[in-house]
Amino acid sequence: MSQSAKLNCGDVELEVPVIEGTEDEKALDISQLRRETGLITLDEGYVNTGSTRSSITFLNGEKGILRYRGYAIEDLARNCDFVEVCYLLIYGDLPSHEQLDEFRSAIHSHTMLHEDMRMFYNGFPRDAHPMAMLSSVVSAMSTFYQDALDPADPEHVEICIHRLIAKLPTIAAYSYKKSIGQPFIYPENDLTYCENFLRMMFAVPCEPYEIDPDFVTALNMLLIVHADHEQNCSTSTVRMVGSSNANLFASIAAGVCALWGPLHGGANEAVVNMLTQIMDDDGDVEKYVAMAKDKENGFRLMGFGHRVYKNFDPRATIIKAACDRLLEKMNIDDPLFHIAQQLEEVALRDEYFVSRRLYPNVDFYSGVIYRAIGIPVPMFTVLFAMGRLPGWIAHWKEMHSSENKRICRPRQVYTGENIRDFIPLSDR
Ligand code: CMC
Repeated sequence: MSQSAKLNCGDVELEVPVIEGTEDEKALDISQLRRETGLITLDEGYVNTGSTRSSITFLNGEKGILRYRGYAIEDLARNCDFVEVCYLLIYGDLPSHEQLDEFRSAIHSHTMLHEDMRMFYNGFPRDAHPMAMLSSVVSAMSTFYQDALDPADPEHVEICIHRLIAKLPTIAAYSYKKSIGQPFIYPENDLTYCENFLRMMFAVPCEPYEIDPDFVTALNMLLIVHADHEQNCSTSTVRMVGSSNANLFASIAAGVCALWGPLHGGANEAVVNMLTQIMDDDGDVEKYVAMAKDKENGFRLMGFGHRVYKNFDPRATIIKAACDRLLEKMNIDDPLFHIAQQLEEVALRDEYFVSRRLYPNVDFYSGVIYRAIGIPVPMFTVLFAMGRLPGWIAHWKEMHSSENKRICRPRQVYTGENIRDFIPLSDR
């Protein structure tokens, strides 16, 4: 017999069913709560709130487990190509050879931007943040493909998916080229996803560009480990916007904006800025640890802590090992990597961080790899967005196919004024 809990609210006793997931996670189903008792739940920051059932990603923060569609992140990062992982997340299974070829060629046929879309970049200031450009251009895709925006039409959805995955690297690379005043480099469809992106970022028309296979490997791994993370802030945003039946481009543009914040994807940029600040401050790591502990200060160690991971972040473990390998192979002695390691050592011994179970997260070492590849700091979060795109799409699709789909509309506990007599302006 399935479990339930009993809730006594005044005269009413409510039997609350316990829902079980496939990994023994349990949740109280409070969907009848307001109808039966007149009460709602209050859970600021949704710390205890499950917003949906989902079969895309499983993570266990205590044990440091992360799996996409049942596959361990370590296996996927070691063995897969990012496009394969996109397929896995969006369609639920690893693709066969034929399925993967078909998916790749669908993506290849959409890598270019409409020439009119390139004109947007002329309107942005030179120093515009690339995340702002990314969300604007993704949102503007709704204006170019008006004939295929219906969330209820599987063919429309499919072509939107191909367009997004194909064009995001092009949009991202153009944002960078705009910021440094270089000509845009058109995509080259013979290249792999990561090769093509690196070429669009770093090639110039007047010189040959050689793609470094180590950079491709590192970038591929980074995109994979960022590809999904269940109901995080940006994914929940995509689902929330999509729940109103807004089209896929509009929903993804909203996700990009949510990701930009420094408490979420923007942390990778904030980490490198923080490490640079520490380096410029004579490498005084202890000082910054003390500042992070000082509640009056408001400073936080960027790249530390996680809402769900309370032991270690498996993505950080993979990234740190890759970072070690890449720097050694390239014979780079990056002072920021040393500071990051020192900071980690100091913080992991410190009672403040230990008792709060604050560990380096995915963003702590990723910036060191991006730097080694030559990616400029403002582009770090854009890379996160490129990685997270298949996760956003998978969740948007899952939400639309759910039989329980409803518009997301939380309630509130009102704490404002009670009704007041209106005072005309002349008497105020
Ligand atoms: N430095 C110093 N103290 C911290 C930090 C930190 N990075 N993170 C959390 N704390 C403290 C916090 O002050 C609080 O202390 P107390 O209990 O004394 O009030 C306690 O730890 C719990 O923190 P919280 O803010 O209630 O935790 P949260 O689950 O709401 O926030 C977080 C999670 C990731 C936003 C937060 O740890 C943080 O701000 N970290 C730095 C930003 C960062 O690296 N973000 C990237 C997250 S991973 C990538 C992603 O998913 O986007």
